[in-house]
Amino acid sequence: MNFEKLDVLSMNENTFKLINGDWMLISAKDGDKANTMTASWGGLGVLWHKKVAFIFVRPERYTKEFLDASPYFTLSFFNEDKREELQYMGKVSGRDEDKIENSSLTKKTEDEFVYFEEAKLVLKCRKLYKQKLSEDCLVDKSLVEFYQDHDYHYLYVGEIVEAMKKEV
Ligand SMILES: Cc1cc2nc3c(=O)[nH]c(=O)nc-3n(C[C@H](O)[C@H](O)[C@H](O)COP(=O)(O)O)c2cc1C
Repeated sequence: MNFEKLDVLSMNENTFKLINGDWMLISAKDGDKANTMTASWGGLGVLWHKKVAFIFVRPERYTKEFLDASPYFTLSFFNEDKREELQYMGKVSGRDEDKIENSSLTKKTEDEFVYFEEAKLVLKCRKLYKQKLSEDCLVDKSLVEFYQDHDYHYLYVGEIVEAMKKEV
């Protein structure tokens, strides 16, 4: 089964469930190399009249190096049967092993994008904005508890340039 292009306006997923419940893989490539990591924090919405995705990535993630090297990233969403793979991608670092090779997922590379054949939904994003969160900007100071190691997330805003879905 091939991916079909999807108009994001016709997406009827609950994004809270999609991102926080199902989780997603954030993937990017740098030349011939690629990396991916699981994420469950983020959002989909509108900014600068563009359909965008927001992701939050801690500085120590190996995936951040790829996000910074590439003008693009993808978000891949899966059915429940791939939960174990997402757990693995969210526990092990690509610095320590070739996660993609060691998983059952099939990497698909297309131009500047890397994503997964087994995904039910893929959002291809073009980076628009990046900013490190900062303690000064926490209005609710109790949130500092998430940053005991001062490893404030980087926010990346990506324009969704293409959405694709597949029956899996
Ligand atoms: C369910 C789940 C959700 C996660 N969400 C995020 C997230 O939103 N941002 C983040 O920086 N790390 C998140 N992580 C942690 C990374 O996926 C994890 O540290 C991963 O091993 C990083 O891999 P890398 O070093 O190859 O990039 C999450 C992990 C899991 C299991």
